[in-house]
Amino acid sequence: MAEHGHGHHGHGGQMTPEQQRQMIEQEIRLARNLGQIKHKIVVMSGKGGVGKSTVAANIAETLQAMGYKTGILDADIHGPNIPKMLGIEMLEEEFNQYQFNIFKEIVEEEIVDSGLSEDEQRQIIEDRKKQYQHSIFPVTTPSGLKVMSMAFLIDSLDRPIIWRGPQKTGAIKQLISDAHWGELDFLVIDNPPGTGDEPLTVLQSIPEADLVLMVTTPNVVSQEDVLKCVKMVELMNIDKIGLIENMAYYICPHCNEKLHIFGEGNGKAFADEMEITYLGDLPIEESVSQSPNENATISVLDPDDEVSKRFKEIVEDIKKEFLE
Ligand SMILES: Nc1ncnc2c1ncn2[C@@H]1O[C@H](COP(=O)(O)OP(=O)(O)OP(=O)(O)O)[C@@H](O)[C@H]1O
Ligand SMILES: [Mg+2]
Repeated sequence: MAEHGHGHHGHGGQMTPEQQRQMIEQEIRLARNLGQIKHKIVVMSGKGGVGKSTVAANIAETLQAMGYKTGILDADIHGPNIPKMLGIEMLEEEFNQYQFNIFKEIVEEEIVDSGLSEDEQRQIIEDRKKQYQHSIFPVTTPSGLKVMSMAFLIDSLDRPIIWRGPQKTGAIKQLISDAHWGELDFLVIDNPPGTGDEPLTVLQSIPEADLVLMVTTPNVVSQEDVLKCVKMVELMNIDKIGLIENMAYYICPHCNEKLHIFGEGNGKAFADEMEITYLGDLPIEESVSQSPNENATISVLDPDDEVSKRFKEIVEDIKKEFLE
């Protein structure tokens, strides 16, 4: 079944005809795969640690809870932490077993009680093996959200993954082209920070993104990194950009007052200046950073939490601003 090779095509030099063929086939799989997904939301930011993964995971869970078929792709190949945030951590061996089980389910559904002869059954197994030889089946959370991450393709959590240049783009492309999402209403893609190879590959592989969600905190919003990130997206001819200001305020547990610890209004002013859509702010809250320890996002753990409610409002705004 799936070859979890870290797909390295072309090492800067000439490609062999075989490599060229593989690359074209991958492009076809990618297009076919994305064609089954109605809306794509790319989450990014010029800065690290501002809450991209938190926002991506919560938005995906919120969409799923609203009844949309949703998937999340963790495009952070160095520090993939979406599975941890969603409580579905799994290493290579377990993941391979998971792949086998899903394949078995698909085949059994077709042949058990089908009245087919043994030969016909064997033929079906061979056909499906061929059909799914490149497929990587995403892992499903208890809520039904489909998840794909490099974290499933490594054999140890504490060993750093060392990528050489072209391998990196190959790996990301493979995650996008080979994950077997099936039909989805939404795919949310979480990016590593910055404007490097990885987010660039994601944007190039998903040219028809419905929205690029820029996540920032009020204290970094005016910094050049965020600006550069917006410019990069615009250079790719994507003009649907929304800004979320994370950790914008703290609600005082004693008096319920909103305290804008990093200053107020920066995000809105930045969004207006850059002519991108301001999608609002999110409070800083202990329950948000604690939720991965409870193996779920805050949106799933406590839908009535202030942050969960804000995520619902943001999703409604996204639908209104970008999808209608
Ligand atoms: N609104 C919030 N309130 C409290 N903690 C938060 C909030 N948003 C994010 N955090 C916490 O901040 C830390 C960084 O968040 P997260 O991993 O989502 O950032 P990131 O931008 O994806 O980081 P990286 O650039 O490393 O990928 C995490 O521990 C997360 O739980
Ligand atoms: Mg992250």
